[in-house]
Amino acid sequence: EKGGYEYFMLKEIVEQPRALADTLLGRVAADGTLTLDEMRLTPADLREISKIVIIACGTSYHAGMIAKYAVEHWCRIPCEVEVASEFRYRDPILDHRTLVIAISQSGESMDTLMAVRYAREQGARVLAICNVNGSTIPRESDAVLYTHAGPEVGVAATKTFLTQLAACYLVGLYLAQVRGHKFGDEINTVIGQLAHMPEQVEKVLDTVDPVRALARSLADADTVLFLGRHVGYPVAMEGALKLKELAYMHAEAFAAGELKHGPIALIEDGLPVVVVVPSREGRSVLHDKIVSNIQEIRARGARTVVIAEEGDEAVRPFADELVEIPAVPTLLQPIVSTVPLQVFACELALAKGNDVDQPRNLAKSVTVE
Ligand code: M6R
Repeated sequence: EKGGYEYFMLKEIVEQPRALADTLLGRVAADGTLTLDEMRLTPADLREISKIVIIACGTSYHAGMIAKYAVEHWCRIPCEVEVASEFRYRDPILDHRTLVIAISQSGESMDTLMAVRYAREQGARVLAICNVNGSTIPRESDAVLYTHAGPEVGVAATKTFLTQLAACYLVGLYLAQVRGHKFGDEINTVIGQLAHMPEQVEKVLDTVDPVRALARSLADADTVLFLGRHVGYPVAMEGALKLKELAYMHAEAFAAGELKHGPIALIEDGLPVVVVVPSREGRSVLHDKIVSNIQEIRARGARTVVIAEEGDEAVRPFADELVEIPAVPTLLQPIVSTVPLQVFACELALAKGNDVDQPRNLAKSVTVE
């Protein structure tokens, strides 16, 4: 059932284009209309929402962080994101106009479930984004949007993460459509681009092989840092989490703008730093800033591993290793930029002889608080 692969994780990484396509299937019409009837929230309910709160753990939390950028930009609804284990202990402000989105691939994470129960007690409406039909979190929520990634066996979330992103984008775009968005054209364009993301991920998978050799060359590093900005910041966090859980290595992610506020002191000769470069479309200021960050760390000896759009000549002179990804709209970039980081962590862990399907001390779903 591993389909010829040595580990489920390797198979699940290559299944991502299909998982994404299945998650979009039947929800995006050819004319750009979105159908999310299964959500069971009426357009009237959705028009009433004054605030969105996203709760999740681990990789699902990173999906939530990315969703915040998209939802606030497309829907102009204030959106908070919080790790589920912190949520109910800080007396959050919720009411019936708050939409809580609980993201959990398993639907069984106890921290998220407790946060869902708490939110409903406070009168908020809860929408679950989940990969397992009939699991506890969707059963206890007001509404559910299933991702259709198929079963994920490896402990590390891969295809469920990409499909969570797709589901979050669908919710954001749907809300924008239902509530009437002043940039209606932009919404329609993004819907069209979202429908093409499975092919874009396919392209990444076709060109990702050099990342394997790179990962193997770093198997003896003590630490790897990750930098990103905008939606690239949660992607950097996801890259660091994958490396910790699979390769048992110290890894840390920073928002690139924070470098100068402390972390730059960590940079020393030979330290590997992975940088996720924002797409140039629409956010060129951020792009230029991150190019300066790469220059700064390289001048201090860092070995720079740069993930950037194909044709991004500005980064090339400062990249010790350049990993090219297809050019896609900024907000959708995490779908493509995460894939090389998954392969990187997986390969580095394999080089160390680790079992990537069952990393030590971890379980697929965490059913205790
Ligand atoms: O099933 P969930 O999405 O609620 O799980 C949340 C986290 O436990 C999970 O994403 C964990 O961080 C993964 N093992 C990361 O790869």
